[in-house]
Amino acid sequence: MAKPKRRFVCSSCGSVTNRWQGQCVDCGEWNTLTEEAPATVFSAKHDLSSGGRAISFEPLDMPGKALVRRSTGIDEFDRALGGGLVPGSAILMGGDPGIGKSTLLLQASAKVAQAGGLAVYISGEEATGQIRLRAERLGVAAAPIKLAASTSVRDILTTLGDMDAPALLVIDSIQCMHSDQIEGAPGTVSQVRGCAFELIRYAKENGTALVLVGHVTKDGSIAGPRVLEHMVDVVMAFEGERSHQYRILRNLKNRFGPVDEIGVFAMEGHGLAEVGNPSLLFLSGRENTIAGSAVFPAMEGTRPVLVEIQALIVRLQSGATPRRAVVGWDNGRLAMLLAVLEARCGLNFSSAEVYLNVAGGYRLADPAADLAVAAALVSALAEKPLPREAVWFGEVSLAGEIRPVAHAGLRLRESAKLGFAHAFGPEDKALSGKNGAVKEAGGRHTSVQLLPNLVDRILGGE
Ligand code: TYD
Ligand code: MG
Repeated sequence: MAKPKRRFVCSSCGSVTNRWQGQCVDCGEWNTLTEEAPATVFSAKHDLSSGGRAISFEPLDMPGKALVRRSTGIDEFDRALGGGLVPGSAILMGGDPGIGKSTLLLQASAKVAQAGGLAVYISGEEATGQIRLRAERLGVAAAPIKLAASTSVRDILTTLGDMDAPALLVIDSIQCMHSDQIEGAPGTVSQVRGCAFELIRYAKENGTALVLVGHVTKDGSIAGPRVLEHMVDVVMAFEGERSHQYRILRNLKNRFGPVDEIGVFAMEGHGLAEVGNPSLLFLSGRENTIAGSAVFPAMEGTRPVLVEIQALIVRLQSGATPRRAVVGWDNGRLAMLLAVLEARCGLNFSSAEVYLNVAGGYRLADPAADLAVAAALVSALAEKPLPREAVWFGEVSLAGEIRPVAHAGLRLRESAKLGFAHAFGPEDKALSGKNGAVKEAGGRHTSVQLLPNLVDRILGGE
């Protein structure tokens, strides 16, 4: 018989190789490859005599049970979930340590319990005493949550098997769970995957909404095998700067709804408070207009959020390599915009350091930010403040054209409502015409088709 092949699995990305190496060739992490038992492959005939069973096919439009969602009792959480918890679904929640995952889930469990649902909160990281202290601080200590500290999936599932199925089951966190029926130390790929599989199976069979808390690696992806993201129905990321108050709950994958909705929270002395109307949140503290600052009406799902983009250009005297640093936006995208500004608009950034910051600890994912970033950069370079009541949006192409973006009307309406009556952006049918958004909002829209025109305008001091 052939010798079974050895198999090494990366604990960071889950890729498989047949040779041990110090560094994973797929994700570049060091010392993450561990040996696993080889997968057994049966080759068999596939027919009814060898034990296979026929499955039945169903029409797509068969009347089924309507999807009934259960509210978490926290509107912003429900919104990010696409309307609430779906019974029998599995949710993976990632986020940096200390961002507030445990706090949010404890608050949600308390709300579910107070609304008469059975909520089970299992912590593998903190002792029950610690959680009780936090619950007191959050003012939810009286909520009838079933709380336990355990890291054994076998114990957890045995206990759950003996009681009514909970409406909400929180496992904080999946990385510290282990099962003695699975090989490997806690935290290894096979353990994390196996434990998640068992818990998800329980949730599906019992109609329980399961939330797994996941750790996050340096680059922001959920630690452990990527397969975890494939196994669950919903992947959420809780993000924000720890030094800032605001937290954003993003939906990265959702089998039951849209992915672009966000929930906005503020971390306060007594836990996470909901921010129902975040449109002006990230602009606060903007007093005088200074050069290098542009306001961008971002869209988060169906909600507009106005954010301030700040650019700083420092001319270098020596021949040192200039730095480019970005907080809250994509590095590669900044490099691209600088290249377009150089190649198409004749500006020179090559001997200058460029710093870009999105105010308030906000992270921009909206591609329409290009134009606002370009405006901030040009304004910083020319040391000319932009018009005070202006907002900027549009995608910039490599040729320097400004492309239309989604929800132009909504962006404009919200900006005008908040006192930013002049929008610079691509031409858009939704804005002009008899009932266009511009008329309706009482704002002004200057359509710009080419980046060089806009640059001339800013440099000309308009
Ligand atoms: P936590 O929920 O433990 O984060 P995670 O589970 O994501 O690691 O959040 C801990 C942080 O939140 C901690 O730094 C203190 C802060 N915090 C408050 O500011 N107010 C509060 O009421 C609570 C409970 C925590
Ligand atoms: Mg925690």
